[in-house]
Amino acid sequence: GSAPRSCRLTSVAARKRTITYAAQAPDPNKSSQMLVIVPPHVLVKHNLAIARNKDTPSGAFRAAIGELGKILIYEAVRDWLPTVDLQIETPVGVADATVVDPTKPVALVPILRAGLVPLEQASSVIPVSITYHVGYVRDEETLEASLYLNKLPPSFTPEDQIIVSDPMLATGGTMIACLKDLVSRGASVQNIRVISIVAAPPALTKLGDEFPGLKVYTAMIDPELNDVGYIIPGLGDAGDRAFGTV
Ligand code: URA
Repeated sequence: GSAPRSCRLTSVAARKRTITYAAQAPDPNKSSQMLVIVPPHVLVKHNLAIARNKDTPSGAFRAAIGELGKILIYEAVRDWLPTVDLQIETPVGVADATVVDPTKPVALVPILRAGLVPLEQASSVIPVSITYHVGYVRDEETLEASLYLNKLPPSFTPEDQIIVSDPMLATGGTMIACLKDLVSRGASVQNIRVISIVAAPPALTKLGDEFPGLKVYTAMIDPELNDVGYIIPGLGDAGDRAFGTV
């Protein structure tokens, strides 16, 4: 169709009433809604332009996605990481200080392959983390996601803070399967944040219906999918482009 992007998004949000689109930090009073946060930053726009360009070589593509991931993680952990207040001796005095609690690592869950890339710079943003890899492969005909690698721990507590990464939220099938698995192990949706690079309404609508309270951080919301499930205009196959397997 040819409806302008903003009309489409408004209609999706209005029809479902489960998703709020925001540019800034989430409103904690809206815990029953899924929040989609698109940080309005020039470096988000810049790196997204590099990633979208079909002529960008693999290394530069990966660097741009890594940079976007870094910015989105930075936003996602704003006011969210547990902290400890203490005092620090400077060379010339004593200062009150706040540090990230070293005893409470954030769980990073990259969905292989492409989900590795937005987390490439995660350790330069998050002081303590543990990475649990999961691998889903999408059947190109049915678009169904099936699990082929699972390094998740047997259980989570509802307090565990989890960041799940998949750069392309297209149909939402893979992300929904992964989030269901996390919740079945005890994780709380309220403590899960999703990092994506480009998200499309079909995925956001399903995620909003299934996981109220979820927060999704993304560089862009694109209007639609083509008939083989690619996001349009999107950036192509993120895994192939990042790893040079095009
Ligand atoms: N996965 C991708 O890599 N790209 C898309 O556009 C959709 C799913």
